[in-house]
This record gives sequence, structure tokens and C-alpha cells, in this order.
Amino acid sequence: MTRIPHETSGEPNPLRELTLDRLRCRTSTKWRTYPDDVLPLWVAEMDVPLAGPVRRAVTDALELGDTGYPAGTAYAEALAAFADKRWGWSGLAVERTSIVPDVMLGVVEMIRLVTGAGDAVVVNPPVYPPFFQFVGHMDRQVVRAPLGPDGRLDLGVLEDAFRRAVSGGRRAAYLLCSPQNPTGAVHTADELTEVAALADRHGVRVVADEIHAPLVVGDVAFVPYLSVPGGENGLSVMSASKAWNLAGLKAGLAVAGPASAADLARMPEEVGHGPSHLGVIAHTAALRDGTAWLDALLAGLRDNRRLLADLLARHLPTVGYRPGQATYLAWLDCRALGLGDDPAEVFLRRGRVALNSGLPFGTGGAGHVRLNLATSPEIVEEAVRRMAAAVGGPA
Ligand SMILES: Cc1ncc(COP(=O)(O)O)c(C=O)c1O
Repeated sequence: MTRIPHETSGEPNPLRELTLDRLRCRTSTKWRTYPDDVLPLWVAEMDVPLAGPVRRAVTDALELGDTGYPAGTAYAEALAAFADKRWGWSGLAVERTSIVPDVMLGVVEMIRLVTGAGDAVVVNPPVYPPFFQFVGHMDRQVVRAPLGPDGRLDLGVLEDAFRRAVSGGRRAAYLLCSPQNPTGAVHTADELTEVAALADRHGVRVVADEIHAPLVVGDVAFVPYLSVPGGENGLSVMSASKAWNLAGLKAGLAVAGPASAADLARMPEEVGHGPSHLGVIAHTAALRDGTAWLDALLAGLRDNRRLLADLLARHLPTVGYRPGQATYLAWLDCRALGLGDDPAEVFLRRGRVALNSGLPFGTGGAGHVRLNLATSPEIVEEAVRRMAAAVGGPA
């Protein structure tokens, strides 16, 4: 697969466009969960205005009263063109896709297609906490295959988990987070090829959550799971939601490989009733016309990663931070600060800064926090200042 370098554009950095006062007018969960003296850098929402093409598509629809039910395959076509241009992957076939209400509900439906009640679903903690909640809610057993100390897949641990998952002859799925939230690891083609071989050897079906795929840093290649040798019977769920901040305009796309098309075809028709027409319009516009905006965002995130690394080195030098290869989330190892298993609680109480506690991310999460970098450099600076003040370090 050839990798096409991201374009540079004249777009302004979207992370610098909104003031804290404007952001505090928002009514979404990031801004309404804590009182106004708390600086929120937790849930995966971004402090950006909508990309111009998305805003225009949605406002045009509103002006027209185009608020009925979704129709057609424009979302899938836009994603297929984006995947081809961005990742050099021409294998996304529109006829092997299906719209789903959002990524997590898509994941649930995909897991239902390939497993039954009581079967196992393998996950890689530390990982996006709803993986545990949704898998539990659908009566499947979570089998843990923790990441290695480098925050990447440990293939030996994964194989052992696959063995346990299928023991007794049960069916099993592997819910792969690609790229990984919270460590920001981008799985390589070699790793994913090995995953596919292990899954095949043990009869485990792979469901890849690829929601963060557009958010890889410039010189790293995102590899779609369905594109690797052996990935043909995988299932993937993709969305423009994270990269263009569209969680409030829900829509996702389930994608099957050539050997899993029959599975996807069994997905109940009513699942496609979930996504909203406005969501589909927004996601389609983002993928089709929003790449210049995305590139400006990625440049801003690159600067914020560097800024965070500098600030931590200066104010909280014992905090471990390995800038991720993707996502806008920073996974911080705070164990050396001596704040116990839940440093986020201390940062909130003493520093009035809201970060995600590492604990719900599962094994490997104790003593860690997740910080959301999709904000202005000023807010990143203020957050680190508050964190340092909370632990009595230099402010
Ligand atoms: C890995 C991962 N999957 C899914 C989601 C949620 O996506 P959706 O709102 O489309 O269900 C998130 C949100 O942060 C995420 O990080």
C-alpha cells in the first residue's frame, strides 16, 4: 500500500478558534459535568468549531427541512474515497457496508453477528472503558489481553487470550481498538497480519473499531484491518465522529471484508434505522470535503503534543508521557507522583482540572490519567499549571 502524504492547506488551526468563554456556553457533557471553576480535558470531545463543509451541509439541510430518514450510499462512497486517498486502500466496497447508529452500537451488532450469549470477547486493556460495559451488557464474557509496557499489542498475550476465549469449543470475537485509545498506538501492517493469522488459527472473529483512524500523525501509516492478508473475514466499524467532532450528529459505518459479507448481510435491517439523516449528511461532508480542515487539526495536535511534552518536562518531570501516534488523547503515567491509583481524583479536587481516571480503562490503568489535547495551547498550559499546583510542584 502506498502512503499519500497529508496535504498542507491554508486552513487556520481549529484548536485556536474558540475562547474559553465561548466553550463554556456549550451544553455537551464535556462542559456540563463539572462546575465552571473546573477546566475540562476529559471526554473525547474537541474544542473546535465545525469544519466549514460540515456546517454548510448541515445548515443547507436544515434550511431545506431535509430532516427525514437517511437514504443511499453517499456516506460509504465518501469513506471509500477517503480510505483510498488517505490510506492507499481501495478495498472498501460500498456494497459491503451498512450504516449503523454510532460506532459502539455498530460494534455490538457486529459482535452479535459472530458470537452468541455467553461467548467471549477479547479486549486489550488499557482500553476505551465502554468496551467492557457494552460487552458485559450484551451477555458476553470479557477476556483480557493486556497491552505490553510500551502501550502496544503483545501478540503472545493475545494468543493466550484467544486460546482461553475459544476453550470449550465456544465462538469468540476480538474487539480490536485501532488505533488504540488511550495509548495512541497505531498497529503496523505486520502486527495486524499476525493478529489475522492468530485469529484464523484459533477461530476467533475480529471486529475492529477504527473510529480514530483519520487521526494518525503525519508520518505514521494507518493500516485498515480489512486490508491486511488474512483480514478478509474481519468486520470494521468506522466513523467521522472523532476526527470531525460529530458525536452529537451520530452515524457510523459497518464495513465487511470479502469473506465476512455474508455475516454483515445478516445484520437486522432495523439497525440501519438508528443513524440520523443529519448525522449521515454531516459525516459524508466531513469525509468528502473536510480533509483540509482535518490536516489543519492534525498540525495543531502535533503542536499540542510537543507543548504537553515540554510542559510536563518542566513542571511535572516524573510524569511519564510517550506522545501517541494517533488520537488526541495523552496517556499519562503518574505513578511516580505518589497519588495512589486514581490521580485524576487528586487533580480534580486540588487542581480543578478534569482528566479521565485511568482505572476504568482496565489492567494497566491504575496510577494513570488520560488528558484530552484537542483544545487550545493556552488551555493545555493552564491544565498542566493546575496539575503541578495540585501536587505542590512549581506552578
Ligand atoms: C475507541 C472508541 N470507540 C468508540 C467511541 C464512541 O463512538 P460513538 O460515539 O460513535 O459510539 C469512542 C469515543 O471516544 C472511542 O474512543
